This record gives sequence, C-alpha cells and structure tokens, in this order.
Amino acid sequence: MALNLDAVGKKLGPVSKEYTWKDVVLYALGVGAGFNDLDYCYEKNLKVIPTFSIATIFDFLSHYATNANINLAGILHGEQDLIFHAPIPLDGTLTTEGKITHIYDKGAKKGALIIGESETRHSSGKKLFTSIMTLFSRFDGGFGGENAPQETFLYPDRAPDFEINETPSLDQPLLYRLSGDVFPLHVDADFAKMAGFEKPIMHGLCTYGYSCRALMQSLTPGSPDKVRRLKCRFSRPLMPGDPITIQIWKTGDEQAIWKTINTKTGEEVITNGIFEFGDIPKDEIRFDGQVAVITGAGGGLGRVYALELAKRGAKIVVNDLGSARDGSGGGSATPAQKVVDEIKAAGGEAVANYDSVSTPEGGENIVKAALEAFGKVDILINNAGILRDKSFTKMDPENWRTVLDVHLNGAYHVSRPAFKVMREKGYGRIVMTTSAAGLYGNFGQTNYSSAKMGLVGLMNAMKLEGKKYNINVNTVAPLAASRLTEDILPPELFEKMKPEFVSPLVVYLCSTKCAVTGNIYNAGMGFFNRAAVVTGPGTTIGSAEHPPAIEDIIEKHATVASLKNGKFYFELNEQVGDLINAFSAPAESTTAEAPKQTLTVADIFSAMPGSFNAAGAAGADVVFQYHISGPGGGDWNCVVQNNSCAINQGIHEKPTCTLKMSDNDFIDMIGGTLPAMKAYTSGKLKIEGDIMKSQLIEKLFRR
Ligand code: NAI
Repeated sequence: MALNLDAVGKKLGPVSKEYTWKDVVLYALGVGAGFNDLDYCYEKNLKVIPTFSIATIFDFLSHYATNANINLAGILHGEQDLIFHAPIPLDGTLTTEGKITHIYDKGAKKGALIIGESETRHSSGKKLFTSIMTLFSRFDGGFGGENAPQETFLYPDRAPDFEINETPSLDQPLLYRLSGDVFPLHVDADFAKMAGFEKPIMHGLCTYGYSCRALMQSLTPGSPDKVRRLKCRFSRPLMPGDPITIQIWKTGDEQAIWKTINTKTGEEVITNGIFEFGDIPKDEIRFDGQVAVITGAGGGLGRVYALELAKRGAKIVVNDLGSARDGSGGGSATPAQKVVDEIKAAGGEAVANYDSVSTPEGGENIVKAALEAFGKVDILINNAGILRDKSFTKMDPENWRTVLDVHLNGAYHVSRPAFKVMREKGYGRIVMTTSAAGLYGNFGQTNYSSAKMGLVGLMNAMKLEGKKYNINVNTVAPLAASRLTEDILPPELFEKMKPEFVSPLVVYLCSTKCAVTGNIYNAGMGFFNRAAVVTGPGTTIGSAEHPPAIEDIIEKHATVASLKNGKFYFELNEQVGDLINAFSAPAESTTAEAPKQTLTVADIFSAMPGSFNAAGAAGADVVFQYHISGPGGGDWNCVVQNNSCAINQGIHEKPTCTLKMSDNDFIDMIGGTLPAMKAYTSGKLKIEGDIMKSQLIEKLFRR
C-alpha cells in the first residue's frame, strides 16, 4: 500500500458537525475537568475549553489519513496547531474544509509526515479556528520524497514559571473517545499490540486538552476566550494512569512556551509547545504556514518586521550580513542570530542567514536558506541597507557602486530567485524599501537616491510580471529611528520614531489581504500616505507632421510643466495611449479640459471595504467573484457575511455570482460614467451564477 502523493493540494470537505452543550461537557470530562473546573462541566454559565474544537473535527481529520492512503497500523498524531479566530460557542453546527499541504519522507525505517490544514466556521458564519495537523505515519517512509525541514526549539535556561500536576485516570481514554476519536489504538489491546504498544495508549489530544487546562489555569484563569493559539509536538506515548506535569515558561506579555512530561519517568510526552493568549483581535491578519525572507533584519526596521510577522505565525529567514553602517567590516553573525533567538524565545520559528545581498550568489543563498528550512517563500522584504553619503563631486565610483550593490542590485539578487519560487506556487508578496531621498532628493546622497529610485522602477516592472501569479509588489519609504538615521534626525524626533510605527503598513503589504500592487507608501511616526509618479495633462504643440520650434516650447512651457490635474498611469501602455490620443483630440488648448484622475482596478478593490454599507447588509451572505480582463485586471472576490465585507485577491471556491468585465469598463462603471445596467445590456458586463444576488452590490456599496 503506497501513500497517495497526489492527495497534496486537493480540497477536502466540507464536513459538518452539529454539537450541543452536552458535547462540550463530555469533552471537558474527557480531559480531566470535574468539580475542580466546574465552569467547563456545568450548563449554568458553561464555558468551552478551546481544544474542544479539535474534537469537533475528528470526522474531517480522518480524511487526511484516507486520502493519503496511510497504513493505519502505524499512524500517530505528530503535531497539532490550533489558531483561534473567535471563541467557540456553546452549540451550533461547524463546517470544516481543508487540504493536505505536504507529504514528507523521513526515510525507509523512519516513516512519513502528512501535514493537513483546515478552517472551521460556525453556523453563524464566523470563522472559528484554523487547524494545522501533522500525522506521523510510521510505516510509510522511504518513497523517495523530500524530508521535512528541520526545526529547532529552545526552552529558557531557567526553571518553569508554572508547573501544574495532573493524573489522568486509568480509564481516561474510554471517556475521552466518546468525544469522537474512536481509533482502536486507545481501547483495543490487540490493535495496540499490532501497532507495537504494550497496551492501549492515551490519546495525544487528550493530554493536549489537559495541557490546555493547565495553561489556562496559569495564564488566562476563567477566560478560555483569551486563548489564541496552542501548538505542540507529540513526542512520546503516555500510558493511561501515568501522572503528568505541565511546565510553562512565560516568554512575553501574551506568549508562553510549554511542555508536558511524564512525572513518573521524566520523559517528555509533549514538547515544542507554544501558547498565545490575549484578546483575539477582530479579523486578525495571520501568516500561519507562510514563509517570509527579510533582508537586513538584524536590527532597525527589519528586526521589527521579522518579530511582528513571526508573532503572527510566519516562519522567518532573518538575513543580515552584520556589517557597519557604511557596509564595511567583515560581517558578523550576531545581529541576525540575536533576532532569531528573540523569535524563538517568543515561540516562533526562524533561521538566520548571513549572506550579503550584494552578490547574485548571496541572493541565491538567502532564498535557498528559506527553501531548506521551510520549503518555500511567500513573502520577501528587501530591506538591507547602508549609507555612504558624500557630495556629488566627492562621490567616487567605489562609494557609488557599493551603495547601489546593496540597495538596488541587492533587491534584484534576492527577488529573482524568490520570484521564481513564488511564481511556481502562484502566490507572493514583495516589499521594496525606497526612501524620501530617492523619491524627492536629498543633498549628499546621489548614490543612495539613485538606488532608492531604481527600486521603484524595479517594482513597476515586477508588478506587471507578477500579476498573473498573484505576486504583488509594493514599496515603502520608511522614516524611523535606527542606526542609519541616528545622526540625521534631531534627537527629540528620533525618540518618537520607533520602527513599530512603520511595520503595520509593511506587514499589511505582506498579507493575503493586500490587494494592491505597484504602490509606494510613506510611513513614519504613525503617518501614512501614498506617493506616485504623476504625469501632467500636457499639451500638443504644433502639428504632428513637423517638430515644433524651440521657441514654441518655451512659450508653452508653463502648460507642459504643469502637474495640475495630473494623472497616475499603472503602466507604460496607458501613457503611450494618451500620447497617441492627444493627436486625435481637438487642437491644443492652454485651458485644456482636465483629464480625470485615473483609478486602477486594484485601487477600487482596496477601497471597497471603506465604501461598504454595513447597515444595508443585514442577512446578506454572498460572495461576488470579479474577473477583470485586460492589463490592469485580475481576479478578486468580495465576501459579505455577518454585516462585514472582506476583499481577497484570487478565485473563491464558491462564488454566489461571477462578474466579468474589462479593466477599462470596470473603472468607468465604478467611476459612474458607465451605468451598470447599460454595461450589462451592452454585453460589457457578463454575470454568471445568481444574477439576482448580483443586484445587491448597489445596495451594499456606496459610490
Ligand atoms: P539599519 O542599519 O538598522 O538596518 C539595515 C540592516 O541591513 C543592517 O542590520 C545591516 O547589517 C544590514 N545590511 C547591510 N548591508 C547588507 C548586505 N549587503 N546584506 C545583508 N544585510 C545587510 O537601518 P534601517 O533604518 O532599519 O534601514 C532599513 C531600510 O530602510 C534600509 O534599506 C534603509 O535605506 C531604509 N530606510 C530607512 C529610513 C529610516 O528612517 N530609518 C529612511 C528611508 C529608508
């Protein structure tokens, strides 16, 4: 029986499960709650232990095993990660969908790992939790596949901050299995022997439930709704009746790491435990399962991006050469390693890389580090930077080249291999780091300004090449206190300019929520705005047959140079189109009618949540899929549920209706020059699926 490797990526589910408060209580009893934890066992003021959620998806989880064709005699639960998006209600129906994301080969005698990811929604429409599960299939290794990336996990070098002792009863599995996990390994002595165990063993997820209770007791007493994430590895089997100790280290305001040991033998039963807690932010942006490469992340802005992305679930490659501010020095591993240690101490995953971005080999190695450690790259922030300021005549070739090598060539060296990986996966988010010095100019920084503006050109072309593959490329011009700015900024400003005021925008640009591409943003001290290359309306001079005289240019210079009613072009073709049209337009006029401001399709979608009319959305549960053709187009979907609206780039699996249009017609329709009904009757707008529901759009969005 061979593993079915084709199962990777195929959609599983939906699988639905109805539950009542009695299921909630039965689970609580199964993981050791009783009169000691009556809140979880008594219907008066009943609360739900968050790990109850896993018991509601057992039926779904069995799909991983059957679809991957695992030898069931060798199956063990390897790892479990639960990320909570909203508290678990006392009853309702849960619907789960997911897929197998990876199948790894540990070797012939070592087994295989099957990783599955799913999302579960409540009948109210709310997304409740994400589960990432690793099944360890002991007898299915040796099929010639890749091994899983290695992970290291560090516990603090001090005694645990909390230790909770528990003793599951000898009969615990008999009670726990009634919550749904009826696998014979935990009840049937013959099956257990066949699987190589002396007798039936505890369910790893039952010990997980005990551990969750201990973590809540220590860190969120009385508030299960504050549990945001619980992750761990099941390291060894536990026999029913063996006492356990849950050891907990608080590593941050809202983070802890933990393990569970067999108190009798000292063996570690559950390891690599991560616990995140605190108020669950509304519609929290998460990066679970994603991999981010951040160059120059050993300090300053890059370090803060790395910490924030890791906190939200991304696996990070912290690249930093560790050079001096001007790029000199042999390099030091310390800054990157320190940031990796910080991430790990907070329960995240990260690896350090010390290559220089300034060579093609360095760029390849940085991306290779991500592939070797985590198997892919979803996010790249080109952030590494140095300064070598000199007035222009003193700007010798070495200082010129070194700065261009780090900023502009560096972004090219790392982006190119990363882009290849992203293109294969059909997803990517890239952020370039420019500077006001490049956008607007700064004395003494010809090298730096040129490199920084060059990055805008790189973005402009990459955004077009990435569009088809859902790779968005945007640029930030930060302003923040760091060693690059310590002697440039006045001390009183320096204090107020933490990189933390820049990172929210950058982290947004790295997320699946970011539907824009090709935008430039200034960000600093909590102030954000967009910068763009804007082109004035201009004028034709003379006839198209004969070049105009220099004197004519001088005469009309004010009109030529005017930016009044300037326009943003998404790409070259738009600008050339206007240029050609200018000659078919009526003769030049200095009071030329102002061309209208051009919107891009991406702009429209990013502005859509802001024009959502929640009051008109009561009871609406619809998904509008947009397929916009043409060079400025793409696929976006708009999910309206529970009086809220979410815009995502890409194709939704179950759209209520699909609207198809060209980019220019769509912009005209949104801009009000093409009435929707006219667009439909003229065939410019095609609607598939539930046409009636498409009429809700006018009601749901203000113009
Ligand atoms: P920083 O000096 O704290 O961080 C830059 C990091 O890049 C350093 O840790 C350095 O070791 C690393 N690095 C330098 N050369 C490298 C190479 N060849 N390979 C790999 N890593 C290398 O400075 P900060 O302020 O955090 O700068 C981050 C980015 O933001 C830079 O691109 C900078 O030009 C840009 N920026 C910063 C502004 C600010 O106000 N801090 C203003 C405008 C732009």
